[in-house]
Amino acid sequence: MSTGDTAERSLAHWSEAGRTGMEAFYALAAEDYRQLALAADWAAVLGDRAHEGWSLLDVACGSGKFPAALLRHAGLDGLPDVAYDLLDPSAFSVAEARGVLAPPFVARHDLVTTLQDLPADRADYDVVWATHALYAVPPAELDAAAARFVAALAPGGLGLVAQATSTSHYLVFYDAFRAGVRDATPYTTAEQVRDALVRAGAEVREQRVTYQTGTADRAVVEGFLQRCAFDDSVSLDAMEAAPVLGDYLASCRDASGSYTFSHEAALLWL
Ligand SMILES: C[S@@+](CC[C@H](N)C(=O)[O-])C[C@H]1O[C@@H](n2cnc3c(N)ncnc32)[C@H](O)[C@@H]1O
Repeated sequence: MSTGDTAERSLAHWSEAGRTGMEAFYALAAEDYRQLALAADWAAVLGDRAHEGWSLLDVACGSGKFPAALLRHAGLDGLPDVAYDLLDPSAFSVAEARGVLAPPFVARHDLVTTLQDLPADRADYDVVWATHALYAVPPAELDAAAARFVAALAPGGLGLVAQATSTSHYLVFYDAFRAGVRDATPYTTAEQVRDALVRAGAEVREQRVTYQTGTADRAVVEGFLQRCAFDDSVSLDAMEAAPVLGDYLASCRDASGSYTFSHEAALLWL
């Protein structure tokens, strides 16, 4: 695995070689997408935009956990098919997400690119979403990425960015990892994404959801945390012994050794 900076390590892990780590991560992180699927009346929200020939752009599609959660929890049966374009710099992710789509989501274009490099002629989407997707966008490129997100929406279209806030596990953990184990470019927070979207001219309505995930299984915790840092080389024992990170992990652990992680996700509706 690469030992490079955040964006480079993200890309290296979203690969066939990273599949085991990805599956370990989703033992806990599947809950992130169930929470998003339950946070809105998706049949109504999408039904308002639905029409013959409508289109959707999934930004940073990853392995398709969000559309999979919608298909499982949101009751989308009555919607007309939507042409579903998959954007991700990882061809592995695009192929994984394509594999989970089912009606009304009908895969159309594979866009193997970062959001900030999305060509300007990719526009007029009725729906554009990015769910737990923009953490590894380098801070210096966030304004460009937000501008491309906003420009991809058709007039009156629906945009959604769902991202953890600065007080949520993913952000607090990675800051502690950077301080105690290895410095790197920080993850982008929901607050930074919101501000960048506003600078790009979007009107943003914010909704927040809070929830917890956890387990007493140390192997599951180790796999989850290694993926949170895109670093498989640091064991759970080493993380617990590290300065700063050890203190944060102790605050997530009870007397029996069981872990609970606290999450807050912002849903940024455009
Ligand atoms: C946690 S996954 C997203 C999960 C996904 N939304 C889902 O429903 O499963 C993060 C994805 O962001 C992608 N990514 C990283 N940097 C990116 C960038 N600058 N632009 C677009 N995608 C990016 C990664 O390759 C990875 O596939």
